[in-house]
Amino acid sequence: MKGRTILDAAESTRMIHVGEPGSPLANTPLPPVQRASTVLLSDSGCFGGKPPAGPTYGRSGLTTQARLRTMLADLEHAEDVQLHPSGLAAVTATIQALTSAGDEILLVDSVYNPTRRFIEGTMRRFGVTARYFPPTAGANEIAAMIGSQTRLLVLESPGSLTLDMQDVGAIAAAARARGVRTMIDNTYSAGVFFKPLDHGVDVSVQSLTKYVCGHSDVFMGMAASRGETSAILARASMEAGCAVSPDDAYLAVRGLKTLHARLGLHGEAALTVARWLASQPEVSNVLCPALPGAPGHELWVRDFTGTCGLVSIVLDATVQTAGAMLDRLSLFGLGYSWGGFESLAILCDGQLAARSHPTGLTGPLIRLHVGLENVDDLIADLDKSFGAVRAEPRNNVQKEKIAAG
Ligand SMILES: Cc1ncc(COP(=O)(O)O)c(C=O)c1O
Repeated sequence: MKGRTILDAAESTRMIHVGEPGSPLANTPLPPVQRASTVLLSDSGCFGGKPPAGPTYGRSGLTTQARLRTMLADLEHAEDVQLHPSGLAAVTATIQALTSAGDEILLVDSVYNPTRRFIEGTMRRFGVTARYFPPTAGANEIAAMIGSQTRLLVLESPGSLTLDMQDVGAIAAAARARGVRTMIDNTYSAGVFFKPLDHGVDVSVQSLTKYVCGHSDVFMGMAASRGETSAILARASMEAGCAVSPDDAYLAVRGLKTLHARLGLHGEAALTVARWLASQPEVSNVLCPALPGAPGHELWVRDFTGTCGLVSIVLDATVQTAGAMLDRLSLFGLGYSWGGFESLAILCDGQLAARSHPTGLTGPLIRLHVGLENVDDLIADLDKSFGAVRAEPRNNVQKEKIAAG
């Protein structure tokens, strides 16, 4: 507007330029939600290869996403963090970035089911093969599976649904010694209870949808890493055009502020529920590594500093009765997610059918997410629902077991 002020311009022009540049923002505890695709560059030198002083396009994330990445890098003891539009997207993007046609991936059999679906669908289509090892496999057993084509090991500890623990440090060391990278789905620990990168894992992935956002209303994922691996993941994200909205990033930053407090309450209540469940005759097994005597407890004590709200149980009943039990719950909702404030339950047997190795479970598996409701109320709700199991004629259970061989 040389020689004229903006006030002399037409109203349509004024609506585009009046007030620019924005007045400095007040200093607030949470970051501003900076919404923009366009970033205004300082001068034309930016087009000639001058190294940019900051972002040059909104897709790579602006103030809000930058704050979230800094906080997550601190949480995961990482050098860099890539944000993804969901937890599953973080898993799949990381797998794609670290493998090429002809490579092989080894995965723990308890891996999150949609991760397996991606491997068996997209990755196989692009010429990447996969094998699965039992969740209880030790470092030596896994090391013996590593071949010349093996490029990546995918861990999840505790594993999805069955909450099996792995000796992550020993497995990562064995993989590294053979030039194989490891990634882990660290959603259970929310980055608080376990720091995979300190145990030699190359990439820690989380669904931020769960505890970090914490209110069952946002999808987001992250991949945290160090060194050369960070450079590979950053380049892959940039090439793929991966972006998350500043509004969602804001909610994740807000969630991080109360993460430790919420997790402490979830964990304490989950342990109380797990102890109660362990004393119920209808429950043949409680899968909760934080519970003394439960599978994986020794590894959990060695590696973890706390537990989240997940507890799985094996019922001494038929699958139909397990369904009837779930239908009697009123405080626990029936829903696939977890990590929010609310208690949830799912019947897992359909998902377990996809596994490559027998689970050895003696009855239907129910996964509970213990939310932030009063724990006595939650136990009363479970107790009421167990009425369905208590009403089941024992001989029906026997008949089904005999029929199943
Ligand atoms: C262990 C685990 N990893 C990843 C995901 C995927 O996260 P999202 O729902 O954010 O895609 C889930 C979702 O349930 C999960 O349970």
